[in-house]
Amino acid sequence: MTLILLYFLVHHILLCSAAPGKWSILLKSIGISAMHMQLLPNDRVIIFDRTDFGASNISLPLGKCRADPNDMALKRDCTAHSVEYDVSLNSIRPLMVLTDVWCSSGALAPDGSLVQTGGYNDGDHVVRVYKSCNKCDWKEINFGLLERRWYATSHIVPDGRQIIIGGRRQYNYEFYPKRSKNEEVISLPFLVQTYDQEIENNLYPFVFLHTDGSLFIFANNRAILFDYLKNKVVRTYPEIPGGDPRNYPSTGSAVLLPMRIAQGVVEVVEVLVCGGAPKGAHIKAKKGTFVGALDTCGRIKISDPNPKWVMERMPMSRVMGDMLLLPNGDVLVINGGSSGTAGWENGRNPVLKPVIYKPDNLIGSRFEVQNPSSIPRMYHSAAVLVRDGRVLVGGSNPHEQYNFTNVLYPTELSLEAFSPAYLDPSSSGLRPKILLSTTHIQYGKRIVIQFMVGTQLDMKSVLVTMVAPSFNTHSFSMNQRLLVLDRDNITKVDAKWSYEVGVVAPPSSNVAPAGYYLLFLVHKNIPSEGVWIHVE
Ligand SMILES: *[C@@H]1O[C@H](CO)[C@@H](O)[C@H](O)[C@H]1NC(C)=O
Ligand SMILES: *[C@@H]1O[C@H](CO)[C@@H](O)[C@H](O)[C@H]1NC(C)=O
Ligand SMILES: *[C@@H]1O[C@H](CO)[C@@H](O)[C@H](O)[C@H]1NC(C)=O
Repeated sequence: MTLILLYFLVHHILLCSAAPGKWSILLKSIGISAMHMQLLPNDRVIIFDRTDFGASNISLPLGKCRADPNDMALKRDCTAHSVEYDVSLNSIRPLMVLTDVWCSSGALAPDGSLVQTGGYNDGDHVVRVYKSCNKCDWKEINFGLLERRWYATSHIVPDGRQIIIGGRRQYNYEFYPKRSKNEEVISLPFLVQTYDQEIENNLYPFVFLHTDGSLFIFANNRAILFDYLKNKVVRTYPEIPGGDPRNYPSTGSAVLLPMRIAQGVVEVVEVLVCGGAPKGAHIKAKKGTFVGALDTCGRIKISDPNPKWVMERMPMSRVMGDMLLLPNGDVLVINGGSSGTAGWENGRNPVLKPVIYKPDNLIGSRFEVQNPSSIPRMYHSAAVLVRDGRVLVGGSNPHEQYNFTNVLYPTELSLEAFSPAYLDPSSSGLRPKILLSTTHIQYGKRIVIQFMVGTQLDMKSVLVTMVAPSFNTHSFSMNQRLLVLDRDNITKVDAKWSYEVGVVAPPSSNVAPAGYYLLFLVHKNIPSEGVWIHVE
């Protein structure tokens, strides 16, 4: 009798976990709510929220306290608002930010340090640099920025600097570091043109570096191709069909789809924008009516002189989702809700199930629904890919303070990991392992990678990909790009299971700005663990 019951129970569990992907809680509390996340080349993740939430749930190290007469919540604060997470040890270390980093931007500089830009209040003109080591902390550069940057987007440009675009009531851009003392802010009328009088809808614009060195900038419901050196719009893309807004607070997300390099050229460059909220949804949410989010994605060939949006429908609607490129070229859409918008208390109906989008499948068979998490990740949540192929998920705090009780979506201090199906033990036979690779690669040069697969190798399926570690906040991953490298034939190295493949490094800093990348070897859609390489 018990056996039969057990049988049905096991059967039931198996049936219920039929969807792909697996969730696990890494830490119940990291002491802060992960609003911004960046992976560093030593496999640590820098996480921070804001200094004026009041006390966080983690103390500063060594009994330190921060005295800040400008802070809106606590003038003297002995808690941390930034932590460093060590992926391999699954542990955190509190860090001290001196000024407010709320709703800011950032990028990994070519030397591997995180250069964070802007924030709020006393922090809105500040640049902060974090170069990881066992005991170090943030270094702040006051007036590193000429204008206030709150809800701005950063992107690394081919010369290794970062461009910082927009922010609240900023219709312009600037660079960091500056080339000279008299470098000025440059105006960007596109941010005026896409500004929605009622509710903005063009904050945290989606910015991608195109392979010709120009920038694709999407704000509200349309995009331009922009030559930032000449301050010139080179192409105006059509409005996304339906015309609904996709940027904060009608927050959707976007990725630059994997770029295939062949003979030193990327033939097709495409952007995918998914989710968001219908026009007017933010005003309605503020009045207590939570309109259903958008369930559409628009895909466009930005390299095409006369491109059109191709619309696709997601399995469910989503606002405040994060879109992440996985090492095998799939796109993960994770976090968010299915009604309302971003902003304090404005979102409803958490979407607990991620979906995976397979860009090379036929239209209509690209989405695959994943297993759900049990934790809502609403406004101010974040997600980031780590070297072993998992995705770290943290944050969610739609309140002006930390509120753990008597609220619909309590402040989340937990850190979770989503493991896509490629990490299932059932795939371990197919999983390649990189044995040897150069750690420094030069533009256009050939490198040889040695790898191992414990089973019959399907040569045709082998891909070598390179992923840039991105800065994630507010449903957008700045500097996110994935390159599929040009490779030649695979040769067997010994009688066992090891092989060699030659690949050609990206052709230029337009295709891959100098800096750190994760290199993966993919076999039958199953990626190896990544190895860090530096492109120069
Ligand atoms: C955070 O700290 C507050 C105040 O000490 C406490 O009430 C709350 O339960 C803590 N929350 C978590 C998730 O640890
Ligand atoms: C959140 O917490 C703060 C401070 O503890 C409190 O003043 C506020 O009323 C709480 N908000 C809600 C929505 O419970
Ligand atoms: C790879 O192998 C195929 C089939 O054996 C051959 O036709 C092709 O020339 C080879 N390419 C290179 C770059 O060696």
